[in-house]
Amino acid sequence: MLAKAPKGTSDILPSRIDYWYYLENIIKEVLQNYGYQEIRTPAFEYTELFVRGIGATTDIVNKEMFTFQDRKGRSLTLRPEGTAPVVRAYIEHNLKRENPLVKLFYLGSMFRCEKPQAGRYRQFNQFGLEAIGSPLPIIDAEIISASLAIYQKIGLTDLSLMLNSVGCRECRPKYLAVLREYFLDKRDSLCPDCLLRYEKNPLRILDCKKEQCQKIVKKCPSIFDYLCEDCATHFLKLRQYLDTLGIVYQINPLLVRGLDYYTKTAFEIISGELGAQNAVGGGGRYDYLVEELGGNYTPAVGFAAGMERIIETMIKQSIKIPVWEGIKVFVATTDASYFVTALEIVNQIREKGIAAEIDFLGKSLKAQMRLANKLKASYVLILGQEEWQEKKVTIKDMVNSSQEKILITEILAYLQSLFLKKESGKS
Ligand code: HAM
Repeated sequence: MLAKAPKGTSDILPSRIDYWYYLENIIKEVLQNYGYQEIRTPAFEYTELFVRGIGATTDIVNKEMFTFQDRKGRSLTLRPEGTAPVVRAYIEHNLKRENPLVKLFYLGSMFRCEKPQAGRYRQFNQFGLEAIGSPLPIIDAEIISASLAIYQKIGLTDLSLMLNSVGCRECRPKYLAVLREYFLDKRDSLCPDCLLRYEKNPLRILDCKKEQCQKIVKKCPSIFDYLCEDCATHFLKLRQYLDTLGIVYQINPLLVRGLDYYTKTAFEIISGELGAQNAVGGGGRYDYLVEELGGNYTPAVGFAAGMERIIETMIKQSIKIPVWEGIKVFVATTDASYFVTALEIVNQIREKGIAAEIDFLGKSLKAQMRLANKLKASYVLILGQEEWQEKKVTIKDMVNSSQEKILITEILAYLQSLFLKKESGKS
């Protein structure tokens, strides 16, 4: 157990890290282009924030939170998602003072105590974006377009955008009443979870993956017949904007999300490449969340995506990414008495921004050359007795095996000219 990561967590090993750098850079680049600024909130919050924000009847709050007490007995929870913390920070720091529309993005680990399976983890990473302050559907369209721009920049294909409206305070209660009426005489055929949902929030029955429930859900009344005029117009305008942007979507009246704060727009991006856990991201409008968490009424909309699922899709689709070029120069010595000089040399090379390595294990020259080869170093600088006496090093080109001696004082200028030549040869 000592040398085993907890269930549902995993290490991101150096062999995969280039995917993370690549993805993180694209997220930052695209979202800054869209005018979003990064915010970093704590990894844990007071439990009440999530209970109030996400909703007491949701699976996340009921079954999936990592909750613990601090030494004074206050209940804290590792964040299961980023929207409630961002809204908390928005209220706490009165961010609207700077701008009536606040556009924020975040990257970070989220924690949900779910049953682990492919694509579903207990600690996972999300990036998300939130636009707080506008009721207009044009900002919903922007959130969707910014999210898709990230997938597009990565080069992912086989993605579908599913779109729905889940109504508002005005029309949703009416639709819930219609759903209760519809499911009333079918309760015996629903799964035990959906029986509970029937009492607490029948909308969530629409999302049940069990076949017995899906059969019943298929024929249930559609929310689109019950949206109020404001919600219906909002949806229509959003569709017009998406059409203008050339964004293809499928309307799915059964799309309800696992968090209770949504109003009007709800959407998900699905990858054809993943199995049961195929949502690479999801989001929607949450017009009452700021109010629910103690602020004034402030309409908002946002999106978040699971970064592990994106990377899994990238790997499945063989997306090419830039990889770290590795060590360029290896400084080898024939004896430990040259370590001081070798350290100075390697330090100066690194200061010039050239990746350099040295032997830390007291290996023989032969073994150091093998190591340099393994590291794919372009050049090895050898410091031995003869070189030491001449105040020189031997520089060996590892590609064509040629070698020559140069003065220690000239190493930096020499290496820089070599790498410059290589660079210009590339372009
Ligand atoms: P969510 O649908 O719960 O929404 O999560 C967003 C995405 O996070 C999912 O589509 C999935 O890619 C990833 N995800 C969720 N749970 C896991 C898990 N256990 N393992 C791996 N990946 C997972 C939210 O979190 C909302 N805060 C989104 C939002 C932002 N709505 C408005 N603004």
